[in-house]
Amino acid sequence: MNEHAAHQHEAQDRQHDGGPGLPGGTLAEGVAIHAGGADAAATWDERYRSKPQLWSGKPNPQLVREAGGLRAGKALDLGCGEGADAIWLAQQGWTVTAVDVSEVALDRARSHEKAALARESVHAAEGAIGSRITWQQADLGQWEPGDTFDLVTAQFLHSQELAWQKPLRTAAGAVNPGGTLLVVGHHPDRLPPWGSEHHHHREMFYTGAELVRELGLDGPDWQLEVQTSRERPVTGPDGRHATIADVVLRATRLA
Ligand SMILES: C[S@@+](CC[C@H](N)C(=O)[O-])C[C@H]1O[C@@H](n2cnc3c(N)ncnc32)[C@H](O)[C@@H]1O
Repeated sequence: MNEHAAHQHEAQDRQHDGGPGLPGGTLAEGVAIHAGGADAAATWDERYRSKPQLWSGKPNPQLVREAGGLRAGKALDLGCGEGADAIWLAQQGWTVTAVDVSEVALDRARSHEKAALARESVHAAEGAIGSRITWQQADLGQWEPGDTFDLVTAQFLHSQELAWQKPLRTAAGAVNPGGTLLVVGHHPDRLPPWGSEHHHHREMFYTGAELVRELGLDGPDWQLEVQTSRERPVTGPDGRHATIADVVLRATRLA
């Protein structure tokens, strides 16, 4: 697999690589993003049902880069979609709770996990390998984890049905002392020139500075390890190439 393909997250829809639909690349400002609710489940189920596979099936490149060196423990993946990140984390030894509003996405995630476990069992001396992932359907507009984790990751939690501030504050609140918060998203100024029907609103996206401010990561309880924007080549559904940028924020909870 070449570098380009490896960094291309979406298989078909390429929403992660999607861009603003408005002329000149301008995002609409001041549009209300909902706080979750019944709409979110219905909308995302429908979106997943519209294609047999929305994402690439590969773990997100910034997750691999940022979490690859961490000691495995208990992880929480918010907005896990079709499960590639959670499965990759489990393969690195993490015990994972993976949450998404869409049962359709979670069904796919479960079957991808089953296939991965079956592949691993072929190579395992002792036969079947147990699952390390708990798949949970929940609306992150309301959901509280009721537990803390060594790693909390949220990758591209962009949705017109969910304002990001609440779930990402929940994410930060669920990190153990000594644990890691990893938030990755599309940089609002570096969205690609396709995927317009899903990426209208500036409010769906965040910069690193906005994350730090909204999640209170500039206080004494946090050490910022990475706050950057990384370019990434992607290919659109029509074969067009573009360079987008991922906002990457990794922080350690000190207390
Ligand atoms: C852009 S996708 C990212 C999926 C996955 N993190 C990835 O990188 O492949 C956003 C995900 O957030 C989920 N989502 C949207 N609104 C949600 C909500 N209110 N509660 C929980 N999950 C939600 C969607 O179902 C979708 O799987």
